[in-house]
Amino acid sequence: MPSVSEFFSAQHRACDRVFEQLEDAVSQDDWSQADVLYSRLRQDTLQHFVNEEEGLFPLFEEKTGMQAGPTQVMRGEHAELRELLQRMGDAVQARDRDEIPGMAETFFLFLQQHNIKEEQVLYPMADQALQGSLQALSARVPGFSASDRE
Ligand SMILES: [Fe+2]
Ligand SMILES: [Fe+2]
Repeated sequence: MPSVSEFFSAQHRACDRVFEQLEDAVSQDDWSQADVLYSRLRQDTLQHFVNEEEGLFPLFEEKTGMQAGPTQVMRGEHAELRELLQRMGDAVQARDRDEIPGMAETFFLFLQQHNIKEEQVLYPMADQALQGSLQALSARVPGFSASDRE
């Protein structure tokens, strides 16, 4: 049974792998593959954000009483990341080989900085704070399955 940290960190890694495959497809001018990979990256990334915004963050806020703390910062960063992801997708759709590398780098660097904050600060706090609330989290996050019983 994975911890909160392990489950959400694994989703970061999975998205990173799709991003790398997308970069490869673009560099090989394989646009049909790039379209498939971009849509997978978009779907997986947006689902991960929803898992956090509608599952992890509200429970974290409830349990810690920290309404205006790290979760608020993370929500703001998600909004910026959604925008960067969309701009990268527009460039892929336009087959714009000049624009894509810069857009991709901007998105990926920001995403990595965001993920590091979650993995080093928020998720370890959540592992502590959500003891006893894992079933509630399971009900809100597809694929996460944990029980509160020993
Ligand atoms: Fe996040
Ligand atoms: Fe995350």
